[in-house]
Amino acid sequence: MAARIIDGKAFAAGLRARVAGHVMRLKAEHGVTPGLAVAIVGEDPASQVYVRNKARQSAETGMNSFHYELPGNLPEAELLALIGALNTRDDVDGILVQMPVPAQIDARKIIEAISPAKDVDCFTPENVGRLAIGIEAPVPCTPLACLMLLRDTLGSLAGANAVIVGRSNLVGKPMAQLLLRDNCTVTIAHSKTRDLKALCRTADILVAAIGRAEMIRGDWIKSGATVIDVGINRIADGAGKTKLVGDVAFVEAVKVAGAITPVPGGVGPMTIACLLANTVVAACLRRGIAAPGDLGA
Ligand code: GUN
Repeated sequence: MAARIIDGKAFAAGLRARVAGHVMRLKAEHGVTPGLAVAIVGEDPASQVYVRNKARQSAETGMNSFHYELPGNLPEAELLALIGALNTRDDVDGILVQMPVPAQIDARKIIEAISPAKDVDCFTPENVGRLAIGIEAPVPCTPLACLMLLRDTLGSLAGANAVIVGRSNLVGKPMAQLLLRDNCTVTIAHSKTRDLKALCRTADILVAAIGRAEMIRGDWIKSGATVIDVGINRIADGAGKTKLVGDVAFVEAVKVAGAITPVPGGVGPMTIACLLANTVVAACLRRGIAAPGDLGA
């Protein structure tokens, strides 16, 4: 039987609607309008589209959106000064600097300059540490997106064997923390893993976050497994154009898996919705207001 297709686009629309409801309530009951500041350095077209979508969607949910498109040769000190100013502004609840940044800027220095209270990416060492030891922290957007889709598909994740392919700070490592917290048995695989195919075949939950087009084939997947594809790769479509594909060979995998996220339309649409959710939670926590229970992990 073909796998159930996990509709991230529909789930994201529902999450954005919940975010908009909480923004309205914060305005009405507390006189607070959550604000998200997004900065991008340089002219990478794909990143610019992504960042403009973040700004547009935050405005659509009723938040204040502060958008900074900065030149590719911006000195590091100027970006640090902008972050310093955003840290102290009361109308800014979340700060996101789009990664990667150009070579003259040290990404680590930039991340460490962001106030942990406004770190809606969960990139700062303080928040990564808080997540690891299980105390209140923002949850990084892409892993949060995956977790929400998994819980919606499976209900409880307790006891599941979860294999995450990819060990990045952005996805693989925080994904492991979140799945552990939900009582999965977690393995992180990477480019040096021996017999990756055999390992993947043990997974009840398989999260693919490698960034290699269609690397995970249908016969790498255990029958009935839930497959979450984080990859977004642009490849030639064989007819002179390009198309987006994930890290999983979808046409093969859909015949074997129990449920699977498509690319596009799976995890992708969820990540910005999770960013908006994190901004509302940050706006609440910074002001001592109880955070909504239906936005996070
Ligand atoms: N670049 C690609 N994904 C992300 C993300 O989630 N946050 C930031 N800041 N940059 C990114």
